[in-house]
Amino acid sequence: MIGAISRSVLRRGWRAALRRERRRATGGMDMDALVTAEDLRKRFPRKRVGQRRWWPWARRENGRGGNGTGASGAAGDEWIVAVDGVSFEVQRGEIFGLLGPNGAGKSTTIRMLSTLLEPSAGTAVICGHDVRWEPMQARARLGVVLAGDRSLYWKLSGRENLEFFATLYHVPAHEVPHRVNWALERMGLADRADELVERYSTGMKQRLSLARALLADPPVLLLDEPTLGLDPQSARNLRELILELKREGRAILLTTHYMEEADFLCDRVAIIDHGTIIAMDSPGALKRRLPHERVYRLELRETNGALRLTDLVPGAAVVEERRDEATGTLHLALTLAEPEQDLAALWTGLAHSGASVVNYSVQEPTLEDVFISLTGRALRD
Ligand SMILES: Nc1ncnc2c1ncn2[C@@H]1O[C@H](COP(=O)(O)OP(=O)(O)OP(=O)(O)O)[C@@H](O)[C@H]1O
Ligand SMILES: [Mg+2]
Repeated sequence: MIGAISRSVLRRGWRAALRRERRRATGGMDMDALVTAEDLRKRFPRKRVGQRRWWPWARRENGRGGNGTGASGAAGDEWIVAVDGVSFEVQRGEIFGLLGPNGAGKSTTIRMLSTLLEPSAGTAVICGHDVRWEPMQARARLGVVLAGDRSLYWKLSGRENLEFFATLYHVPAHEVPHRVNWALERMGLADRADELVERYSTGMKQRLSLARALLADPPVLLLDEPTLGLDPQSARNLRELILELKREGRAILLTTHYMEEADFLCDRVAIIDHGTIIAMDSPGALKRRLPHERVYRLELRETNGALRLTDLVPGAAVVEERRDEATGTLHLALTLAEPEQDLAALWTGLAHSGASVVNYSVQEPTLEDVFISLTGRALRD
């Protein structure tokens, strides 16, 4: 008996010391950082097509245990490195976006932060609780919406789903009806709350998932592709809701491969590719990193045949040149080395050439341009 007591006291002491150590290890942790991911890594064993069983000793025979680093997915590799040393912090009242193409490692990061997947290496801390050592405490502070989530019960109504999950999330029984009504109201589902979820549209299911994530009123929200598959109006409404949640002081981590969404919603964005963060900053600062800040688009009707724009403006670089045979117009996209002088030269040159300008616009660069400049390929390639 005494032994058992002293063991449990020892255990508690050991856990507290470990917690202190871990907090120190994460840089003393800024109290406002509700999410801290430090050098998170995740590898998956690759199962070859046609291979009926993955033999653990095959790894040893090949002399590879792997060190968890390196590029992912080369044919014949035994491991896929899905997330490779990702570190970031999300502050209270901040929307932080993970922006990247398919397979970049966004969902894997979310799954590690939400304690659904154990990282192969690294740490993640939610409101001071390490996801590996204190998963229950971390989970109690999280609301999660996973991409393509089918964990709603389609044969139950929206309200019944929320009541069920509120109980799972340890919401006190007497508070459940109030909390469920609040979440339904919040997500604009109150009038359809008693219909079966199978009759909900995709947008409504997505809003119900977010209502479920809000049930325990968590300070941290992890949203994996929250607007995927929504029509533009529903996506806009959901984005407004996310902004409202941010204004309440929650820390929101969302993933997306819509750069306009990342641009509109996020205070900071981490561009992630092949499991690593290749750039992290505010959307504005990321775009300012591009050598040319603006793209000038012209639609011209040529009256004298061959128009040589680079002759007219030596500082112009042609980004796109396309002739539209149907309308007989020339579409040009340019960057200008010295916008003020070059623009004057451009208009003078155009006037002399006799070409008439059908359309003219100046565009800010997008996060897509940032991604192209960093990786040499488009986000959706
Ligand atoms: N359970 C798993 N087993 C094996 N490989 C996996 C597993 N989950 C993810 N992967 C691999 O890890 C990599 C990253 O996947 P992840 O789902 O995190 O990407 P993502 O950025 O969310 O992409 P998407 O935009 O398509 O959702 C991919 O190469 C994927 O095939
Ligand atoms: Mg994903």
